[in-house]
Amino acid sequence: MSNNKNIDKLWGGRFSEATDAFVERFTASVGFDKRLYQHDINGSIAHAKMLLKVGILNTEETDQIVSGLELIRQEIEQGDFEWSVALEDVHMNIEAALTNKIGITGKKLHTGRSRNDQVATDMRLYVRDEIDTIASAITQLQSTLLDLAEKEADTIMPGFTHLQTAQPITFGHHLMAWYEMLERDYGRLMDCRKRVNLSPLGAAALAGTSYPIDREFTASQLGFDAPTRNSLDSVSDRDFVIELAAFASLLLTHMSRFSEELVLWTSAHFDFIDLPDKFCTGSSIMPQKKNPDVPELVRGKTGRVTGHLISLLILMKSQPLAYNKDNQEDKEPVFDLVDTVKDCLQAYCRMLPAISAKRENMRKAAFQGYATATDLADYLVKKGVAFRDAHEVVGKSVAFAIEQNRDLSELSLEQLQGFSDSIEDDVFEHLTLEGSVNARNHCGGTAPVQVRKAIAYARRELEQR
Ligand code: ARG
Repeated sequence: MSNNKNIDKLWGGRFSEATDAFVERFTASVGFDKRLYQHDINGSIAHAKMLLKVGILNTEETDQIVSGLELIRQEIEQGDFEWSVALEDVHMNIEAALTNKIGITGKKLHTGRSRNDQVATDMRLYVRDEIDTIASAITQLQSTLLDLAEKEADTIMPGFTHLQTAQPITFGHHLMAWYEMLERDYGRLMDCRKRVNLSPLGAAALAGTSYPIDREFTASQLGFDAPTRNSLDSVSDRDFVIELAAFASLLLTHMSRFSEELVLWTSAHFDFIDLPDKFCTGSSIMPQKKNPDVPELVRGKTGRVTGHLISLLILMKSQPLAYNKDNQEDKEPVFDLVDTVKDCLQAYCRMLPAISAKRENMRKAAFQGYATATDLADYLVKKGVAFRDAHEVVGKSVAFAIEQNRDLSELSLEQLQGFSDSIEDDVFEHLTLEGSVNARNHCGGTAPVQVRKAIAYARRELEQR
């Protein structure tokens, strides 16, 4: 025993030579998993109280353990805790520190538990906390969108398909499309939370434990809905981090689409919005430049988050039951994607209220793009012309208007009647931008009345969260 160089390791008993220095560094996770210290301490306190409840620890021992852990929590928070790579991970660092502080009683904490169920518990507690933070950031962004949509409910802009001017829409309607994407993201996140919020504690290494533990008690102490149901699955399941990463990838995919539009709209060619200077940066060579770096960076971060989803899926692929050390590799992708998602949401919550719509430019663009051509076709259909014939008539009218360098609404009645004798002088109401958007007056349509209804509905939805 005296020759045992691993004597300091919590698992040193069966070893006869010290761990290779490289292997020690290679296998250690404390450099990144120390981030889990709050959850690790909370999990240990719940476990100790359970051991007291079932008679494995006495009151004095439990008190010693709990106050020792609280002291360690303080030391970590104040930056006075010394993390050791030789102690491998957050779990063994804290446990060793506890034994240093309170002596032999500290060694009783790990009764009926393994690092395998401990780390699974820590990860679920961490992910649950972060889900709640991310959920409120999404709600804040959605409510910011509602405010902006309300302000821009009547603002006319061109709607695009294939990035070609298609039909006039309202800017409020466009913003509400973003809102809907976020609404689905929120739903996916809440759905993921249900499967996160289960307690693996008590699964021990893989098979459960021979001590008379009370898993319902630890589950409820930690705010979990229930214990997980199979010990092998409990220590090896990382579906919940994959679900979080899938949610995050889709959220960022949506945000990359918002970003792409903001980038286009701030360009001189569109010039639809103004992004205040504080959200832009300049160029070191071209003095005239004002670059929309914030949306560009959010667009770029999408790749990184989706990369983490792929890492996690491949991490879990082909792993046999139950716990494998591979699982230690789940942490860095999850931590990074959580940080990235929170930053991107914060960027948008700050930036969106600061953008201003250049309403005149939006209107001009809608006017120039023959955006009301469909309205002329619909007008003809209402006068009894078959849709395909109407389509043909309008196509010819647009070609003529392009030749004349005019909008459809700027052609004379005689010129229009040259294409179809079903056209009468009421046609012009249908060719205005307002006429066009107001006509799309049904649930889900772009008419300002409908946009306001959608906003009111959404506000009620957010209030109920
Ligand atoms: N650091 C490890 C992890 O993150 C903790 C669990 C280690 N378990 C083990 N049997 N080696 O997964």
